Amino acid sequence: MIFRTMLLASAMAVGVLGVSGSASAADNKEVQMLHWWTSGGEAAALNVLKQYLAKEGYAWKDVPVAGGGGEAAMTTLKAMVAGGNPPTASQILGYFALDYAEAGKLADVSALAEKEGWAKVIPTALQRFTTTDGKWDAIPINIHSVNWIWVNKALMEKIGGKEPKNFDEFVALLDKAKAAGAIPLALGGQPWQEATMFDSVVMSTGGPAFYKKAFIDLDESALKSETMKKSFDNLAKLRGYVDPNYAGRDWNLATAMVIKGDALLQVMGDWAKGEFKTANKEPGKDYLCYRFPGTDGTVIYNTDMFALFDVPADRKAAQLALADATMSPEVQSAFNVIKGSVPARTDVPDTAFDMCGKKGIADVKAANAKGTFVGSLAQNYAQPPAIGTGAYHDVVTKFFHGEIKNSDGAVTELVKAINAAK
Ligand code: GAL
Repeated sequence: MIFRTMLLASAMAVGVLGVSGSASAADNKEVQMLHWWTSGGEAAALNVLKQYLAKEGYAWKDVPVAGGGGEAAMTTLKAMVAGGNPPTASQILGYFALDYAEAGKLADVSALAEKEGWAKVIPTALQRFTTTDGKWDAIPINIHSVNWIWVNKALMEKIGGKEPKNFDEFVALLDKAKAAGAIPLALGGQPWQEATMFDSVVMSTGGPAFYKKAFIDLDESALKSETMKKSFDNLAKLRGYVDPNYAGRDWNLATAMVIKGDALLQVMGDWAKGEFKTANKEPGKDYLCYRFPGTDGTVIYNTDMFALFDVPADRKAAQLALADATMSPEVQSAFNVIKGSVPARTDVPDTAFDMCGKKGIADVKAANAKGTFVGSLAQNYAQPPAIGTGAYHDVVTKFFHGEIKNSDGAVTELVKAINAAK
């Protein structure tokens, strides 16, 4: 039912847009971008790119599809591409891009990539998603990571809390907040948010080698193991710290609870920092950014890429302008300072970034060197969408909301769902 409604909404969006493939002078200078950046911080970051392109004489046409994690946006994109009206570019995550590349729907901007030397400055882990058979068809604007917690500093001081270093200390901190009458954990009960949080819980419970075995290699014995059961048991513990109204809440409203001091902390990717920034809050003064307890030294990443579609000839110049702007060190710095993420280019200095941004940049560098830079399963950087957005989100959310009763049931269902999605 929900799926049908979404399809209908997508079809309507396509109808309203009425994008034509025909050439016209007006089309030439327009960049049409599909994305799910509708929160305050996200929109402010996107403005950097819009303004940069405006200065170069390009008009911007937004195709915003609200919904954190991008599930609804991907449904709209599918309808647009199927209808022969692809946008100039679309925000996209990991394996979703590979599907469009495989279907031959993407452009080839290798000439520009070569001229600008992108291959030398983009981490090789990301190039797996931005290139197909050596050809560049998507561009990365940032590197986000999901294993963070965002803490209200005043509340932390009030309860006498300190940075938790492992899962048990995390639970002890949440208990302290509860005892003080605060909401310990700000959460939006939507499948993608719960699954994104679970990525961190698994990393904290099992460590990077286990995470890779289970989520990257899909090793069945790891998926069914005692460690995975313990990960689900740990997730179950977190249920006791959310407020009664958490179901269905948008992620940025959960961030707002921490900003206002209604809740102690949120487990969320560093796009949450964009919300603190647009609310004029400063790290170290108003809020604290810590790696999810027990995951220091690892980065569970998701990168926002722009998939570049194979648009008609009259729209290609605008597409190249977008690619050039996105990959410019200037935009990569200014955009990510606001967005909360880290530049995808490794040669962008950290000078303009705040303390959390500087930590993010250093963490990515260190994790890359150590082999602990791993893709988020919840965000479709570990497996194709049928497994990430599909099987994984589904099982984690059913468990969190009590439809799957215990961790034995959870691992059985997880293996079943993954095998069916393969
Ligand atoms: C993620 C995306 C971020 C942020 C977040 C919430 O999937 O990578 O850029 O937008 O969703 O909307």
